[in-house]
Amino acid sequence: MLKMEHIAKVFRTDTVATHALRDFSLHVKAGEFVSVTGPSGSGKTTFLNIAGLLDSFDGGSYQLDGINVSGLNDSARSKLRNEKIGFIFQGFNLIPDLDIFDNVDVPLRYRGFGRAERKQRIEEALLKVGLSARAKHLPSQLSGGQQQRAAIARALAGNPAFLLADEPTGNLDTTMARQVMELLEQINEQGTTIVMVTHDPELARRAKRNIQIVDGEMADLTLKQAV
Ligand SMILES: Nc1ncnc2c1ncn2[C@@H]1O[C@H](COP(=O)(O)OP(=O)(O)O)[C@@H](O)[C@H]1O
Ligand SMILES: [Mg+2]
Repeated sequence: MLKMEHIAKVFRTDTVATHALRDFSLHVKAGEFVSVTGPSGSGKTTFLNIAGLLDSFDGGSYQLDGINVSGLNDSARSKLRNEKIGFIFQGFNLIPDLDIFDNVDVPLRYRGFGRAERKQRIEEALLKVGLSARAKHLPSQLSGGQQQRAAIARALAGNPAFLLADEPTGNLDTTMARQVMELLEQINEQGTTIVMVTHDPELARRAKRNIQIVDGEMADLTLKQAV
């Protein structure tokens, strides 16, 4: 489903070239729950942004659901991203002056769904994350855990094949982090493939597979070896 072979990514400024990923290969099959750990600056976010078609790469190949990503122009790439991928970020990235319902609506409007279909998808997604009663609240009126659940609803409403999460519990206390993790586990059991970057060894171990990125290279770990 997600097939990266020998991916290289270099960030260049006038004075330095940073090799964020070097010879990075990874296959993720449908239905997997993969956690990604590694030191700060090792390339985790770079990997996730490339996987999510938010960033380009400089070498190697990447196939998403059998589609060769390098061959796509910008609009085809955006379309593929919107159809297949849901994102969750450490900082939730909700729009502060939209209520929760309208936040979940943003990517659906972008995809051009009609009003009735959007409403149905939003209500289903909010039900899944346990926030039906909070649809009319602003993000600032919710706890951190609730805000992250709202962001998960936004990612799910588009019914993505892949959920990519970059430190989704990084801004949450332990209790809320566990709740968000439980929600992700349920979502995975219902068939969504998840790749989650995390600093938290306990959460990393709970994923079905753990990989580590060190200096832009990938190491597959067994559960026993994990951190
Ligand atoms: N936009 C950018 N411009 C220049 N360097 C970058 C950029 N994004 C990331 N890097 C560098 O690439 C390396 C990997 O970064 P990143 O993928 O964000 O690491 P992680 O998420 O594992 O902390 C780091 O050395 C970082 O400084
Ligand atoms: Mg990062």
